[in-house]
Amino acid sequence: MMKNKETISAQQPKSENIAWSDSLVAAELRAGLMGHKPVTVWFTGLSGAGKSTIARACEVTLVKRGVKAFILDGDNVRHGLNSNLGFSPEDRTENIRRIGEVCKLFTDAGLIVFSAFISPYKSDRNLVRERHPAGGFIEVYVDASLEVCESRDVKGLYRKARAGEIPEFTGISAPYEAPDAPELRIKTGEKTVAESVAEVIGYLEANKYIPV
Ligand code: ADX
Repeated sequence: MMKNKETISAQQPKSENIAWSDSLVAAELRAGLMGHKPVTVWFTGLSGAGKSTIARACEVTLVKRGVKAFILDGDNVRHGLNSNLGFSPEDRTENIRRIGEVCKLFTDAGLIVFSAFISPYKSDRNLVRERHPAGGFIEVYVDASLEVCESRDVKGLYRKARAGEIPEFTGISAPYEAPDAPELRIKTGEKTVAESVAEVIGYLEANKYIPV
């Protein structure tokens, strides 16, 4: 199904009578207190590609090192903040818009955020990127083919989707738009979880987001 351009949120307030005011705490001062550079690490890929697995392992790896990191995960966020959203193109766009704003707030607060959502539309991911300062958004394409994801079928959802029991299922009856130029691309069909995590952590170290 094609997405209507009108449904892509313009990030404009509905009301006119509200003004933006910046925090009196400079981002550099906060980052200095944290001891790392805040960033959103945005994992995107098909269901079952390994986004949550890698993101969860990255979070625990950093927290064990004393780095303040936090994960936002697809199924969990849909239990709370986004419990009123489904999987239509419009709802997915709103899902990603809200999550992107939460990521921005958490990074403004100084955290390293790992987000694990299919986020199938390029335009939605790019809007989230634009909401972050330069260098504040790292897109990680968790690249596993539909065949690999379907053969894993950890949650049994591909089987249900093939049986017509789940409409608009990504990869089967709804689109996935792969990133053109992600900062990182991890082929999980060819790597262990530990190797994938090492790649992400190595990127954060090499680009001075976290101390070695
Ligand atoms: S997104 O497309 O809006 O980014 P999100 O990552 O929040 O999706 O949720 C995806 C998870 O919801 C999947 O991992 C899967 O467990 C579940 N799910 C349920 N229905 C669908 C569907 N129609 N398409 C994709 N995932 C679905």
